[in-house]
Amino acid sequence: MKILVLGSGAREHAIILALRSEEAEHEIFAAPGNAGIAQDAQLVSLDANDPVAVTDFAIENDIALVVIGPEAPLVAGVADAVRERGIPAFGPGKAAAQLEGSKAFAKRIMEAAGVPTGRAVRAYSRGEVESALDQLGTPYVVKADGLAAGKGVIVTSDRDAALAHADEYLPSGPVLVEEYLDGAEVSLFFLSDGDHVLPLSPAQDYKRLLDGDEGPNTGGMGAYSPLPWLDGRFGSEQEFVDLVTRDIAEPVIRQLDAEGTPFIGLLYAGLILTDGGVKVIEFNARFGDPETQVVLPRLVDPLSELLLAAASGTLEDLPRPAFATDVAVTVVLASEGYPAAPVTGRALTGLREASDVPGVHLAHAATAETDGGLVATGGRVLNVVGVGTTFMEARERVYRALGQIELEGGHHRTDIAARVAAGL
Ligand code: AMP
Ligand code: GLY
Repeated sequence: MKILVLGSGAREHAIILALRSEEAEHEIFAAPGNAGIAQDAQLVSLDANDPVAVTDFAIENDIALVVIGPEAPLVAGVADAVRERGIPAFGPGKAAAQLEGSKAFAKRIMEAAGVPTGRAVRAYSRGEVESALDQLGTPYVVKADGLAAGKGVIVTSDRDAALAHADEYLPSGPVLVEEYLDGAEVSLFFLSDGDHVLPLSPAQDYKRLLDGDEGPNTGGMGAYSPLPWLDGRFGSEQEFVDLVTRDIAEPVIRQLDAEGTPFIGLLYAGLILTDGGVKVIEFNARFGDPETQVVLPRLVDPLSELLLAAASGTLEDLPRPAFATDVAVTVVLASEGYPAAPVTGRALTGLREASDVPGVHLAHAATAETDGGLVATGGRVLNVVGVGTTFMEARERVYRALGQIELEGGHHRTDIAARVAAGL
């Protein structure tokens, strides 16, 4: 199949590696991609956020499926434009992508669908923020309403810090003040064809910059899958997944369909397991990064068939995707200064030695090939992914591989999957 993948991160590299691992041979194009993706797909230099440019390329090149990785092209209406020309697109249209693009929209859909989530107040002014903080209490949770690349949220008991965060976003629109939800976080992905959903295997990501979940929120510093500790709470992973499918994913997909904005693509449920049950903290309208890097290597079924079925409205005909019992761990290597002010352009070496470690592969996030060799071009540079029969094994492989990579000022967390490897 001829497939065009939009995006340039480690998530897109993971999607392409999963497509490459299938028995069927695909011709894969990536726009714009990166230096790692270039080893596994043909790079196309087009603006992935331009609906006309993407559609023209897809038509001229007989593309059978367009897979949209990041949120920006979704919100720009790329999926709508591609579908309008009769080409299957994996990714929601502009209207349904509001589920991620607007937290207020997501809250309204959840309310209408009867999906459990924290209480929230939309505040338009400093005064409204102050009374919402008083109403919902500490710890305070304040969120920007629009897309903020994972950085628009503050969770703090410091009232001044909560107000300062609100002040930062208030000039450009309302902010959301939310009830604090206490519990373990789980990311669960669903493929949706607008009508039917199929769940993938759960993962956990590490959003904070530093070991011990200290420091600022980031786009994600590591992840692992599956989550064996779900068994103790829900009986089994399957029972947990069934519950979230029935109580959260299906009602939301039905609600969006009933409102004339069917959701075709990846529904990412960001969940918190509170004492009062499983609640939604956020939805995203695309694969999670870095969770995708640990979920897809465990997928047994061909990814292309699942994505095409979702894009063509035929998910109902497929069984639930199967996952290997192998586990996967990923750790993100970040540039000096990430997330505040990443230093870019520095040389990156030792990648061959790293990927020679058994069970390890690399997913590139921000790399470019220059005359002087490979360089880092962004904050999150690459993901080292390790697969193994136990978390202890997968972790050991990842950190051994990371030890082979050199990037001046580069840093990573050292505690990814440490607790689960210890059986906690
Ligand atoms: P979001 O951008 O909504 O995913 O939020 C980023 C992170 O902030 C989440 O992964 C949580 O760790 C934290 N967070 C967001 N909302 C809440 C909440 N209502 N209660 C507790 N933690 C939250
Ligand atoms: N891992 C968080 C996200 O993709 O938004």
